[in-house]
Amino acid sequence: MPHGLLQRLGITQPIVLAPMSGASTPALVAAVSRAGGLGSHGVGYLAPQAILDDAAKIRAATDRPFALNLFALPDDVQADEAAIDHARAALDALMEHEGLAARTTRPERWSPRFSDQFAALCEARPAVASFTFNLLTPRQVDELKRRDIAVVGNATSLAEVRAWAALDVDAISLQGAEAGGHRGTFLHEPEEAMIGLFALIRLAARAVDVPLIAGGGIMDGRGMLAAEMLGAAVSQLGTAFLACPESAAASAWKQDIPTTEDTRVTTIRSFSGRAARGRRNTYVEAMESKAGAFPAYPVMNALTSPLRKAAAAAGRSDLVSEWCGQAASLSRAMPAAELVAILLAEYAQARASLA
Ligand SMILES: Cc1cc2nc3c(=O)[nH]c(=O)nc-3n(C[C@H](O)[C@H](O)[C@H](O)COP(=O)(O)O)c2cc1C
Repeated sequence: MPHGLLQRLGITQPIVLAPMSGASTPALVAAVSRAGGLGSHGVGYLAPQAILDDAAKIRAATDRPFALNLFALPDDVQADEAAIDHARAALDALMEHEGLAARTTRPERWSPRFSDQFAALCEARPAVASFTFNLLTPRQVDELKRRDIAVVGNATSLAEVRAWAALDVDAISLQGAEAGGHRGTFLHEPEEAMIGLFALIRLAARAVDVPLIAGGGIMDGRGMLAAEMLGAAVSQLGTAFLACPESAAASAWKQDIPTTEDTRVTTIRSFSGRAARGRRNTYVEAMESKAGAFPAYPVMNALTSPLRKAAAAAGRSDLVSEWCGQAASLSRAMPAAELVAILLAEYAQARASLA
């Protein structure tokens, strides 16, 4: 019997492809949606027209529902000039030391304007829209609902769960401390909100009557069933899909994921100015201790862009961000449709073994 949330989202299987900016692609999203799950596309780095173009590409590949995900950010970024100078000097010195010819630049804009991205998302009209980094305004929630777009907010603590529930959203995605990528934390310092998924699901399930989407460290069907047993309606997997051929992760990143030990996965602020979970490497060893003096997201993210591009072009994967969750080494590299089929078979088997 399909769960109410699955019906609301128009999906038949209890699996959501986590939005992954920089790694999710229209092909990956469409593959998961075609397999009966909900493919989500992280479009937080994209300009409005690119959001519309990607939505059209997903639609061309499937008529199944899909989600678009944005970083909820203020339109105007307050840049801390001293922190910018400090970061540029440190980044330029690192590039020189590592033999990369690139140097930092000051872009015209630090990131696309959220209100323009939001307008593009409304125009694209996905079945589901999810948001991280902050709350929406009640008016923005209404705008989405008026277009019959289901609204999902990301939470990393009980207080954040309650804040989204007060906005009467359709579902809340829980981002456990295990999760790969940027922390969505908005009411606390990120290190205060490193709540493990086991604890977070139980806290949220007892506190609110909103369907829960559980993410963080789920890599197989047993993990999916465990999340459901704890009170989640559906599981959201990100890292599990990074090594799929449809993902945009660089090939070195894809190769590194299955060999990334749990103790090598850490919280990193120095790539983007915002805490994110990924693999500790040469860049992190050199820069993380300086991160307190660097500017916040999105300024730092824009400043590291030349270094990340130059390092990728030079095959220096030890200098680029390789986001992944704590259970990365359980990753299986295969086409997304095959992975979904295996995950669902494992989930059914785990369920049967408990019956
Ligand atoms: C490469 C990468 C990029 C991510 N980008 C986003 C994003 O744009 N928006 C978002 O809400 N979450 C983002 N996340 C977090 C995921 O949505 C999700 O919380 C996480 O992948 C779940 O944990 P797991 O990676 O252990 O499966 C990203 C995660 C990764 C690994």
